[in-house]
Amino acid sequence: MRERAKRMRDSRVTISQVMLPSDANPQGNVHGGIIMKLVDEAAAIVAVRHSRCNVVTVAVDSMTFLSPIYVGNLVTFTASLSYVGRTSMEVEVLVQAEDPMTGEKTHTNSAYVVYVALDESGQPHEVPPLLPESDEERERMARGKERQAERLARS
Ligand SMILES: CC(C)(COP(=O)(O)OP(=O)(O)OC[C@H]1O[C@@H](n2cnc3c(N)ncnc32)[C@H](O)[C@@H]1OP(=O)(O)O)[C@@H](O)C(=O)NCCC(=O)NCCS
Repeated sequence: MRERAKRMRDSRVTISQVMLPSDANPQGNVHGGIIMKLVDEAAAIVAVRHSRCNVVTVAVDSMTFLSPIYVGNLVTFTASLSYVGRTSMEVEVLVQAEDPMTGEKTHTNSAYVVYVALDESGQPHEVPPLLPESDEERERMARGKERQAERLARS
């Protein structure tokens, strides 16, 4: 039997990390790949918390970096579920960079990452349904369902 529904706020995570010289090019611009790795890590934690299973990334939507991130910036990744299928979960990650000296905050990019929960034999495993708590969350899930249908149509 499928597990009891869980709320978005039950699995939401926020992770912050200061960018170091080893994360950047010689001019101090943080590499996009560093941000993509942290997006995947934050989103995977959300998927594991919702499913309580091992999860694998099955799709990542295109990522556009709207403004640069520099060494010394505090980068915050806010990740939460936006859609849950039978075994798949779409997680939205919002990335914000803060200059800790001035307090100026910039939304640098957003991303959607889709995970599939796996059972002990590595097969896709059913996850708890997602329980919306407001009209806004219902709409968010409907948009996630549309995005997932588009991904499957493309693949
Ligand atoms: C993820 C994986 C187990 C899915 O296997 P599969 O044979 O396609 O399994 P299914 O057809 O049962 O699909 C499982 C779920 O994935 C979803 N899915 C499959 N392909 C997808 C795609 N391209 N985009 C989004 N979701 C996809 C399906 O819709 C299904 O979701 P649902 O149960 O919520 O409806 C398999 O593709 C895999 O192991 N991929 C490699 C994952 C990995 O190693 N990631 C890290 C890469 S570095």
